[in-house]
Amino acid sequence: MQVAARAVNLVKEYGAGTNVVHALDNVSVEFAQGQFTAIMGPSGSGKSTLMHCMAGLDAMTSGQALIGETDLATLKDKELTRLRRDRLGFVFQYFNLVPTLNAEENITLPLSIAGRTADPSWFEEVTHRLGLVERLKHRPAELSGGQQQRVAIARALISRPDLIFGDEPTGNLDSNASKEVLDILRAAVDDMGQTVVIVTHDAKAASYADRVIFLADGKLVQELNHPTTEDILQVMGNMEGL
Ligand SMILES: Nc1ncnc2c1ncn2[C@@H]1O[C@H](COP(=O)(O)OP(=O)(O)O)[C@@H](O)[C@H]1O
Ligand SMILES: [Mg+2]
Repeated sequence: MQVAARAVNLVKEYGAGTNVVHALDNVSVEFAQGQFTAIMGPSGSGKSTLMHCMAGLDAMTSGQALIGETDLATLKDKELTRLRRDRLGFVFQYFNLVPTLNAEENITLPLSIAGRTADPSWFEEVTHRLGLVERLKHRPAELSGGQQQRVAIARALISRPDLIFGDEPTGNLDSNASKEVLDILRAAVDDMGQTVVIVTHDAKAASYADRVIFLADGKLVQELNHPTTEDILQVMGNMEGL
């Protein structure tokens, strides 16, 4: 198994003294290449913090976050920016598209910023697979939520990253649009060999993953492989009693 990313004894504290919050309390976890992982857990359990530390968007207090074999703490700011740009893709709950740019311009924006252009055949494949070919000249306000999120996924895929992170990528979508987005993330893993890690509150969404890990109070408390929605709901139910 090739490891796309891993956390080793990751600790993240906010504040100090008696007000210290242990957002991550010694978390070690590996994300295998070509796998779809979902991170679940109650609100405040550290899901976003884990994803942000793994993606180099937030500095940890101690421990290591590695993308492939690269320890993020060893990188200078510029190197970290480049690693994020070249090797990671991001999908957020509120899409984070630029309202004044059309879909095509949003998709290619990370490349434009880096002074590059998209590989035309890859651009065509991604936009075709994501059903965006007829929507490329539309601005975000002219697209549905599901279409906007598909643009955001195309933007994440366009640089062929090693790993795509999504923080509640279906959190703002209705069930049809959620299914559409999850099918696309699943296909990115199955057909394109992508590695995908998402945070979600939704057991149905998590059931698309190969593996579901559960956080509680900043600790990794359980994991399930190829779970059904019912398996996930059961663990969630047990966790409520903690
Ligand atoms: N910038 C911050 N400053 C202080 N505390 C924070 C900050 N970000 C997150 N926390 C705290 O860290 C814990 C984990 O937060 P978070 O990772 O956002 O949880 P989740 O995504 O699982 O809801 C929570 O107790 C939260 O209040
Ligand atoms: Mg969160």
